[in-house]
Amino acid sequence: MKSKTALVQDYWDKHSDLFGDYYKNPTWFDRTFRKAIFLRAIIAIDVCKQLPNPSVLDIGSGPGMNSVAFVKKGGASRLTGVDLAPNMIDLARRHAASENIGDRCEFIEGDFMQRDFEPGGFDLAVALGVFDYIGEPQAFLNKMRRVAKKALVASWPENGLRMLLRKMRYACPVYSYTEPQIRELHQKAGMENVELIKIPGGWVSKATPI
Ligand SMILES: C[S@@+](CC[C@H](N)C(=O)[O-])C[C@H]1O[C@@H](n2cnc3c(N)ncnc32)[C@H](O)[C@@H]1O
Repeated sequence: MKSKTALVQDYWDKHSDLFGDYYKNPTWFDRTFRKAIFLRAIIAIDVCKQLPNPSVLDIGSGPGMNSVAFVKKGGASRLTGVDLAPNMIDLARRHAASENIGDRCEFIEGDFMQRDFEPGGFDLAVALGVFDYIGEPQAFLNKMRRVAKKALVASWPENGLRMLLRKMRYACPVYSYTEPQIRELHQKAGMENVELIKIPGGWVSKATPI
């Protein structure tokens, strides 16, 4: 039987082009019902902008649309993306090259939890649309906290009709969170200073580890 991580990898390998199209060719439906994808990116880019030439780790970088935006709009000096799905990594590398910033971006294929990253190796760690697939969010957030020196941004889906539909449609496990749970996860990871911003279908957390 396939592990949960392998199911997530398979799912996103199969849906990489479709997900990339939400950014490249958004339909009316995407703009209306997938608004959260764009809103969470705006929040993360804004945090990036507030740091001086930050190094950024984009966890679950997907098609690399946000990764490139962290460099081009957020002023990131260096961008590292990590993603389970080889097709997503391929899209992200091609997108960075097509935007002429391939030399400032590195995309690593693999599970964030299984990869070694230097403690405090990045100013900002971001995970957008990723905790949806994480069965052990405390360990994941703790590791994000360890690698990020200055700030952390993540999105968290809430339970509800949308989540129910995703659970029925997706061929991989999907998880949801409540506001108190998200606060407790941050507190246990050693981050007291966390701001939760409500977006459609969930929240975005902004935390400053130090
Ligand atoms: C919904 S996509 C979001 C992509 C991108 N962050 C964005 O917002 O455009 C979620 C991505 O997270 C990746 N992912 C999920 N769990 C992961 C893990 N443990 N390590 C690395 N990548 C992961 C998936 O492969 C997928 O490409």
